[in-house]
Amino acid sequence: MTDAKKVMLITGTRKGIGRYLAEYYINQGYLVEGCSRKECDIDSPFYHHHFVDVADEKGVRTMVADIVKRHGRLDVVLNNAAIASMNHVLLTPAASANRMLEVNVTGTMLVCREAAKVMMRKRWGRIVNFTTIVAPIALAGEAVYAASKSAVVTFTRILAFELGQWGITCNSFGATPIMTDMIRGVPKEKVDEVVNGLAIKRLGTPEDCANVCDFFISPASDNITGQVIYLGGIT
Ligand SMILES: NC(=O)c1ccc[n+]([C@@H]2O[C@H](COP(=O)([O-])OP(=O)(O)OC[C@H]3O[C@@H](n4cnc5c(N)ncnc54)[C@H](OP(=O)(O)O)[C@@H]3O)[C@@H](O)[C@H]2O)c1
Repeated sequence: MTDAKKVMLITGTRKGIGRYLAEYYINQGYLVEGCSRKECDIDSPFYHHHFVDVADEKGVRTMVADIVKRHGRLDVVLNNAAIASMNHVLLTPAASANRMLEVNVTGTMLVCREAAKVMMRKRWGRIVNFTTIVAPIALAGEAVYAASKSAVVTFTRILAFELGQWGITCNSFGATPIMTDMIRGVPKEKVDEVVNGLAIKRLGTPEDCANVCDFFISPASDNITGQVIYLGGIT
């Protein structure tokens, strides 16, 4: 059943953008492996869920080993899982900063590392790491979150050079505000301020995210690596 289908790992599939992408790529014919810390109710024979915190090195290793055991391959990774804590830097405890860096940066690195070991055997792979426009626009109130996502971009650019020899492309993608739980607590005026600064003055959508991922993971995009695409006109 599984031989012809490509296997995709999407982190953070319980809700939000990750959940949308899981269902989207199941419908596109992928075998989707997802993870989150809490229970996920995606119900499909083409979906398998792992209870894994991406910052847990042993958990990530075990998850990827399990994927290889069941499918013998891993073709695409979308590193979507992340946390954000919107705080003025004067009010940001070290524990909150450390946790954001651990999940957003170390978690992304761990998943890339374990996935790349599998992809390199087939000399083919696609990695898309999620960043955000709040990094290039330097949004006040999101210093540590934005810094963690800037780190994701730099990490991805270097990863592209380290993995290119095995036919693995690594790109990052930064969305504009999308109405998920991640930003539901942000005051409306703050979201409006960001949207008004965009070339395309609207909220982002999960469909926008799928569109960029489609481009990066296409077999035809084998010479597109180390790049970052931001939505909404941000560079
Ligand atoms: N929404 C926006 O406006 C926006 C804009 C730009 C970029 N982004 C980026 O888009 C991505 C998705 O954001 P979203 O808005 O969909 O967020 P969300 O609604 O808060 O969902 C986050 C997902 O990640 C999972 N997750 C969180 N920490 C995890 C961990 N340590 N290990 C494994 N899974 C974890 C969550 O499930 P559990 O809680 O069960 O673990 C959940 O499924 C993020 O990378 C975010 O930075 C979002």
